[in-house]
Parts: sequence; structure tokens; C-alpha cells
Amino acid sequence: MYQHLYQRFLQANAGKQHFACHSHHYWPDVTRDAMLAYWDDSARLVDHKWQHIFSERVPHTQQLIADILNLPKPEQIVFAPNTHELVLRLLSCFDWQQPLRILTTDSEFYSFSRQVKRLAEWDSVTVDYIATEPFASFEQRFCQAAAAHHYDMVFCSQVFFNSGVAINDLSAFVQKLAASTDAMLVIDGYHGFMAVPTDLSQISERIFYLSGSYKYAQAGEGCCFMAVPADNHYRPLYTGWFAEFGTLSADKTAQVQYSSDGYRFAGATMDFAALYRLEAVLSLFSRQGITVPVIHQYVQGLQQQFLAQLAALQHPLINTARLLCADVQQHGHFFTFRLDSSEQVASLAAALQQQGIETDYRANRLRFGFALYQLAEQFDLSCLKHI
Ligand SMILES: Cc1ncc(COP(=O)(O)O)c(C=O)c1O
Repeated sequence: MYQHLYQRFLQANAGKQHFACHSHHYWPDVTRDAMLAYWDDSARLVDHKWQHIFSERVPHTQQLIADILNLPKPEQIVFAPNTHELVLRLLSCFDWQQPLRILTTDSEFYSFSRQVKRLAEWDSVTVDYIATEPFASFEQRFCQAAAAHHYDMVFCSQVFFNSGVAINDLSAFVQKLAASTDAMLVIDGYHGFMAVPTDLSQISERIFYLSGSYKYAQAGEGCCFMAVPADNHYRPLYTGWFAEFGTLSADKTAQVQYSSDGYRFAGATMDFAALYRLEAVLSLFSRQGITVPVIHQYVQGLQQQFLAQLAALQHPLINTARLLCADVQQHGHFFTFRLDSSEQVASLAAALQQQGIETDYRANRLRFGFALYQLAEQFDLSCLKHI
């Protein structure tokens, strides 16, 4: 149904069943043209390339993202090569010589969790972790914790990378958090953007929302972004010269001035080829009416068919009883099965790979992802009868 958009990646991987899409998504064919367009623009415009990128390509890509997330101010979106750079920039808004207290979960991706673990080696930094399990009570426990102390930063994923479990009503969750704390609120939306329908219009003034091109936006590595609340007064210490672009904010007494829009959180020179790819994919989807609700509905259909095939197979390890979260509606675009040990997961994933089934795993958790380029009628899990 959508496979014609992905001919090059599908041809290059003929015979494989790719269930690792939550990790490495196939790229639509338009991304190849985008790479060539970037090369051609570089050759054609040379020194004037930057003018073209900042006056045309960046605003258009900001608009496409803003349309998807229902963000009222596209200029509040800033780009960076990876989310780690943006995470560190957010952390650098605080004075690390003063006490800093952060609330987060036990299920955040390493770009954040490793960085704050390192920071917490200093006595001045405290990080409190709330377990995501049991999932049914997570939101309530997290909001209660946010109210229990004074926090400087609260950081949580929209869909957790190690389970696929989603915060289903992000607006309500953030509004509840915002009522409990005046901390900087950060949502890692990497597994949410372009996968689960997300409307940030009610909460855009309150949260920093992080995501990027690599996963469900299908444009490859190198173009992450952050939606920044308007009129914030943060002054990141880790700041690059792009943060001085455009109109500067009014604080003339400070020695270092910042842009008045999302570029306040910008770094410096980056390779914009990934932004060209992202623009190409989002434009294609916009032209063809492939909205996030359409994608989500299609993927949920795939997930149901996958579970039906599994039910028929009755495999002792890959079955619904092993799903980390029983509520299939409370998921992003991948399922996670908890096995007995990391060795068991590694050998099962290797056996599946030998049969052309690509998955991925973390510790004792095996993950199966779903995407537009899959067809349910092509799912063939019959090898599970023997492994
Ligand atoms: C939840 C989440 N956030 C962020 C990232 C990527 O981080 P970075 O762009 O810093 O490499 C990933 C990648 O797997 C992720 O799963």
C-alpha cells in the first residue's frame, strides 16, 4: 500500500522482514533526491548557500513540523545534529555550582540518562528516578513526585524507548505536571513524533519537546529538533553562534545576547543534508495526505495482525503474556517482550536474524517495530515453530 515510496531500501533488503523500524527506519526514495539537491545547492550557491538554507529550507521544515505537532509558532523550533546536544544545552541553563535537582524516570534514553548520571557525581546535583512500572500508576506517581520537592528540571519520554509504552494523553499529563511544579519541563518525543498523533497546541508554552529525523520521520540521522516555549528567559551556557541569529531578545545589559525565538537554543555549523531529507519526507507525506493519524491507524492494524499470528503460534517466549504492557493501545510503534535473561534474548534475536527477521534488543527485552513499508500479509513468523 505504501511500499512504492520505499523501493530503494526494500530492493536493497529483499527477503528480509524488517521489525527494527523503531530503531532504524527505512528511508523513502525522496530522501535520495534530497541528498542530491543538497549537493546541487552547495555547488550552485557556494557561499550563498547559507542564505538559502536559513531563508527557505529551515522555515519550510519548521512549518512542516509545526503543522504535524499543531505548534502555533514554527520559529520556536531549533535544529541540532542529535538530541544529546539539545539536552546538554538545556542542562547548561542552570548554574552547576548551585544545588540542582532533577526528576526523571528509570526509562530515559542514554543521551539524557548517562549525562545526568555523570553530572550527579557532583554533590550539588541530585537526580530522582521514578520507575515506569507498574505502567498503570506511572503518571500519577510521577506527578505526585513532581509536587513533593522543588525541582529545577523534570524530564520524561512521551513513549519509553525500553518498553514502547506511551503517555496516551500528553496534554493532560503535562498540564497536571505544570500544576505541580514550576520546573523546566522537558518531553523526549523521539518515539512519539510521526508515530502517535500529538497535539502540542495547549502545552507549547510550557514544555521543551525533543525529537528528530532518525526514527519515524524516516529521514536518517543528523536532524534533531526542539520546540522551545516562546518568551522564555533561559540563557544556555553551552551556546553556539547560531544562537545570535535573527532578532535578539531585549536584555541589553547581558554581555551575551540570545535570539528571541527557538534559535536561542542553537549551536553552530551543521550539515543540513539531513534537514533536506526531513523536509523531503514531510513534504511527501503532506502532499499525499499521509498524516500521523493515518500512519498510526495503519501501524495499529499491523500490530493486531502480528499479535494474531503470534497467538496461533503459541511460542513459549514470544507471546502476549511476555509483552511488557498488556494494554496494546497504550503503545507507540513497537512491542517489547520480556524474556528470562539477556543471553536468551540475544540467542533468539540471532536465530530470528538467520531466518531474515530483523529485530533489536536491550538487556532481556526483545523489541519488534512496525512501519508503513510493511504489509501484514507478508508477515511470516512460521520459523518460530522451530526456534
Ligand atoms: C527516546 C530517545 N531519545 C533520543 C534518542 C537519540 O538520541 P541522540 O539524538 O542524542 O543520539 C533515541 C535513540 O534511540 C531515543 O530512543
